[in-house]
Parts: sequence; C-alpha cells; structure tokens
Amino acid sequence: MSNYTIRLEEKKDYREVENLVRESFWNVYRPGCSEHYVIHVLRDDPAFIPELDFVMEQDGKLIGQNMFMKTVIEADDGRIIDVLTMGPIGITPELKRKGYGKAILDYSLEKAAEMGFGAVLFEGNIGFYSHCGFDYASKFGIRYHDLPEGADASFFLCRELIPGYLDGITGVYQTPKGYYVDDSDVEEFDKTFPPKEKLKLPGQIFD
Ligand SMILES: CC(C)(COP(=O)(O)OP(=O)(O)OC[C@H]1O[C@@H](n2cnc3c(N)ncnc32)[C@H](O)[C@@H]1OP(=O)(O)O)[C@@H](O)C(=O)NCCC(=O)NCCS
Repeated sequence: MSNYTIRLEEKKDYREVENLVRESFWNVYRPGCSEHYVIHVLRDDPAFIPELDFVMEQDGKLIGQNMFMKTVIEADDGRIIDVLTMGPIGITPELKRKGYGKAILDYSLEKAAEMGFGAVLFEGNIGFYSHCGFDYASKFGIRYHDLPEGADASFFLCRELIPGYLDGITGVYQTPKGYYVDDSDVEEFDKTFPPKEKLKLPGQIFD
C-alpha cells in the first residue's frame, strides 16, 4: 500500500464514486451490479450519515469508499435499539486484496465509534470482515429480518463499537428501506455510464 488519504465524500465526488462502486461490484454478486444506484439513492435518505461517508484517495484518484446508515434492532422486549448499518464499501478492482479495504473500514469504524454509535450490523463475508472485528450477528442474539427460522444467517455480521452495547438484547435487525431498489431503475441509471458487459460468473449469489 502506498500513500493514500481518507476523507469525507464531497458533492463533486459523487459521479466518480458511483463509477468506482460500479467498477468494484460489477459481476461480483450478480451479472452487472446495482450498488452504484443504491449509493446514488442512499445519499438522499434521511438515514444517511454524511459525517460517516468516506472516500479513499491516491494520486488524485478515488480508489475506495465506505458509508453508513442509521437503523434499528426491534428488541424482543419491545425496545428499539439504535444501530448502524454499512455499505456499499468498495475498492477499485486493480487494488483489491492489498489491504486498502481493511484500512478504510478500520478508519471509518473508528470515526463511527467516536460519534458514539454502539454497534454496526450488515450483510457480508466473514472472510474479510473478521479482520476488522466483526463476528456473526447470531452470537449477539440478533436475527436478520424476514429470515425463516433455521435458515443460514452466516452472512449477517455484527461488531459492537461500545463494548457490551448489545448485552441483554435479543431481537430483529431491520435493513433500511433505502437499500432496496427496483431493477428497472438500476437499468435506467446504468445507461448513463459507459457500456459494460454483464457476465454470469461462478460465485455470484443473485441471478
Ligand atoms: C471486499 C473489499 C471491500 C475488501 O477490500 P480489499 O482491499 O480487497 O481487502 P483487504 O486487502 O483489505 O483484505 C484484508 C483481508 O481480508 C480477507 N479478504 C478480503 N477480501 C475477501 C473476500 N472477498 N473473501 C474472503 N476474504 C477476503 C483477506 O484475508 C485479506 O487479507 P489477505 O489478502 O492477506 O488474505 C473489496 O475486495 C471490494 O471492493 N470487493 C468488491 C465489492 C464488495 O464485495 N464489497 C463488499 C460487499 S459486503
């Protein structure tokens, strides 16, 4: 890893960041991707946290990004517990697996903790996120919304930012509505970028 800076995203970065996210996620989880449109929509969502919307810059180019949203756990005892969720997080394809992802994630989690947030929960691959202190959310007693009992929830991860924040709490985590987008809206938005081939590849989890 060579010289890089991490700073807040600014309005002037929006298009470059969307392009970066598109490049980073393209054909990874499905043919093409939707995350560049998701980020485009999320910035206008009331749950979006501009103080936790980061980009990573190297030689005047954006090479990574991460963002957070507010959401809740609906606890089984009736309480509503404020938590964060995260993503999209992406690193430019040429620089994946060189430590940049961990660097921006560690930095942004530290900033989230400084702001006083108690825990972060989201969907991801434990192979990467365990390096940044995440564990299965089930270990904290938190269930993923709309998942049938007994279904595999190993994609659902959690990290406390305040140690013990989730002690004594069981309940259901809610993904903010803003993450759900229509495929047709994604298609339209994607047409505003240079054409890119959608490929069906092994390892993708959606059609
Ligand atoms: C996932 C992503 C952000 C990780 O960033 P990165 O810079 O590539 O990862 P790092 O080099 O910091 O990884 C640190 C460690 O995490 C692990 N790791 C990283 N990516 C992994 C993956 N996809 N699967 C399993 N383990 C992974 C590795 O052990 C790695 O160390 P190693 O390369 O020495 O073995 C990046 O690869 C990316 O943008 N991927 C495409 C978009 C995406 O999937 N975003 C996350 C959606 S939840």
